[in-house]
This record gives sequence, C-alpha cells and structure tokens, in this order.
Amino acid sequence: MERTMRTPIIAGNWKLNKTVSEAIALTTALKASVVDVNGVEIIVAPPFTALAAVSDVITDSNIRLSAQDVYSEDSGAFTGEVSAPMLKDVGCDYVIIGHSERRQYFGETNESVNQKVKAALAHGLKPIICVGELLEEREAGRTEAVIEDHVTGGIASLAAAELLSCVIAYEPVWAIGTGKTATPDQAQEVHNFIRGLLAKLSSAEVASQIRIQYGGSVKPENASELMAQPDVDGALVGGASLEAESFAQIVKFDS
Ligand code: 13P
Repeated sequence: MERTMRTPIIAGNWKLNKTVSEAIALTTALKASVVDVNGVEIIVAPPFTALAAVSDVITDSNIRLSAQDVYSEDSGAFTGEVSAPMLKDVGCDYVIIGHSERRQYFGETNESVNQKVKAALAHGLKPIICVGELLEEREAGRTEAVIEDHVTGGIASLAAAELLSCVIAYEPVWAIGTGKTATPDQAQEVHNFIRGLLAKLSSAEVASQIRIQYGGSVKPENASELMAQPDVDGALVGGASLEAESFAQIVKFDS
C-alpha cells in the first residue's frame, strides 16, 4: 500500500513542560498557525494538568489531544495514576505509551506497556506505542532485536481490529533530545523492518495500514526529508513542539 493511503500523523510530546496558562497560549497560537492544514492529523500531548484546558482550546479545531501515559486499571487505590476512562472523559483521542523516558526512568516494561495498550483500546483511546534502541544496542548490531522485542511485547495478543487503532513510534534513544537525528535512510530501514514484523505478527493487510512515526530531534529543517521516506508516516516531536511556529512548520512538512 502506498504511503498516500496512510494519513500523516504529526504529534507534539510536550513531556514535563508547560503550566496551564503556557499550554493555553501555545495551543492558541498553534491553532491559528495550522487552521488551513488538511490531510495531516495534528496531535498535542500536554502534561496531565493541562489536558482539560487544552481540550477546551482545540474544540472544533483540526488538533487532537493525547496524554503522555495511562495506567492499566480503570479506577481504585493506585495513588498518583490516571486511567483511560479519565483521559477519554477529558477529551483525549490518543495516548503515548512506553516512551523511552518511561522505560528508562520509571520502570516501564514490555508487559506494562502491553497492559496499558489494552486498557487504552478498551476505552476507545488510540495508543501511540514507542519503541527504540539505545546507542550501545545499535553499536552492538542489536537494533532489530530490540525493536522486535519492543513491538512484539507491546502489541502481544491484540486482535487485528485493535492493531489498526495503534500507531507505532520509532524513537531511537540516541536521537532523543540530542540534536542527532537518524538519517532518512536509517529511519526508513527500521520503519520498513517494523512494517515487515507487523505483517508477520498480524497480516500484510494490517501492516500496510498501521502508521509508523519517527521521533528523535525532528525539526522544521529535517521533517520533510524524513517524511519523504515510504514507511515514515509521521513524526513524534519533543523539543520542537514547544513553540507554535516550529511545530506548525513540521506539520506543514510538504508545503
Ligand atoms: P526530541 O524531539 O526533543 O528529540 O524528543 C523526541 C521525543 O522523545 C518525542 O517523544
């Protein structure tokens, strides 16, 4: 299937940034900058505290809301956690799951990722499942083994229809926040590997429809060459999503 059959998906992961008032200002400016954009799915992922305010700002706009994490249980004695029904209620359509920062600093594992993915899907949230190798794993020639482990673990026992609601984000850890972007060829190579793996784990038909984003130092200057790769369907943007102008330029990668 041609890339043109998959709607490009550009998401801004704000990480631990933006107070509520800053989030409103950023989203208001972004909304004005991308008002004329069609044919690209635009997503912002503010911190939990700003989700409700951002949700209000983007009502009736072409911007969709994502959370940065979710807990696997719906409710109960789990102090500090936020559940899928709560995210749905505040207006989220998407949720980022298994970001490398959560794997690195907060003990996220393939098993917890898989439980969170299932909880998200059960409540109509689309998971953006992050996978990616460390620099030492790449240098040891283990990139494909690590990606296979993350993808296989993350989507374990999902039905084909559930898989179609998922987005995979390939984020090489060495490219995150380092200014060291993967080359378009490096990104394409891994994206192509992921699509082949999805075909094996599910079917060629499903694999051809799932969108695979690239993340890691995506900037206005490199977005269009990355997006020109046949298996790169979108971007998961960190630093450059914290300013409306740079994120809007990435959203407009093909204009
Ligand atoms: P940077 O764009 O800041 O490298 O972050 C990428 C990322 O981790 C998005 O989730």
